[in-house]
Amino acid sequence: MTGLERRMKVIIRPTAAAAALLTAEIIGQQVKGKPDSVLGLATGSTMLAVYRCLVQMSKKNGLDFSRCRTFNLDEYLGLAADDPCSYHYFMRKHLFGRVNLKMRHGHLPDGMASDVTAASVAYEKLIGQCGGVDLQLLGIGLNGHIGFNEPGSDFRSRTHVQTLALATRRQNVPFFPIPDQMPRRAITMGIATILDARRCVLLATGIEKASILAAALGGRITTDIPASALQAHGHCTVVLDAAAASALKKRRPGAVRLTRA
Ligand code: GLP
Repeated sequence: MTGLERRMKVIIRPTAAAAALLTAEIIGQQVKGKPDSVLGLATGSTMLAVYRCLVQMSKKNGLDFSRCRTFNLDEYLGLAADDPCSYHYFMRKHLFGRVNLKMRHGHLPDGMASDVTAASVAYEKLIGQCGGVDLQLLGIGLNGHIGFNEPGSDFRSRTHVQTLALATRRQNVPFFPIPDQMPRRAITMGIATILDARRCVLLATGIEKASILAAALGGRITTDIPASALQAHGHCTVVLDAAAASALKKRRPGAVRLTRA
């Protein structure tokens, strides 16, 4: 049996904008239903449209983040929070500074920690002290990574330092004005940390993600494709645009929960 036949709900929207809007609506429902939600957040260009929608929902519909706490998946090692290439900076620019989340409630791993092992343990502890993640937002790397858990990562891993794969460096180097400045390591929540979330929502758009999604969602669970670990999660929603969904295999009617818009 594959993941699509187990527990994943895969929702397909015609466009990337519609997929992002739906993802923001799922987050919005979470926050409305539980105003003190603990949200797991993600970075990457796919998330920009989600955060734009959440900002709109906050400004126009009063979506209230004032009691939320957030934990991002990852941060580059060696980048300070005010470095424009850091994920701290990304989150402040695209979400934290534009909604009423209290700045002290928006957490990311510390890329400048002098003792990264201690910082990783502290990050896990803080997530636990806040009651655990209610909803974890995820993107997917072209090599199937989630967070920065690269192929080969142990599914029992917790927050840790990860050496970035070549494919990841190639994917993300365009975001660095000077390519050599891209760190080769990052601190990331582990796969076990991600799977601890009560709900996972993975958003992926674009034809370039189609083949890795087909493998991650429809193939066997394997550490070669970290995102395949989500097949074992009890409550995972995958939101795709039509292009990203284009390599998913059609299955016998009733076997899968594929929802087309
Ligand atoms: C980075 C992040 C991942 C994210 C990925 C996708 O590598 N660490 O968490 O899933 O980017 O990026 P994009 O949305 O730009 O394709």
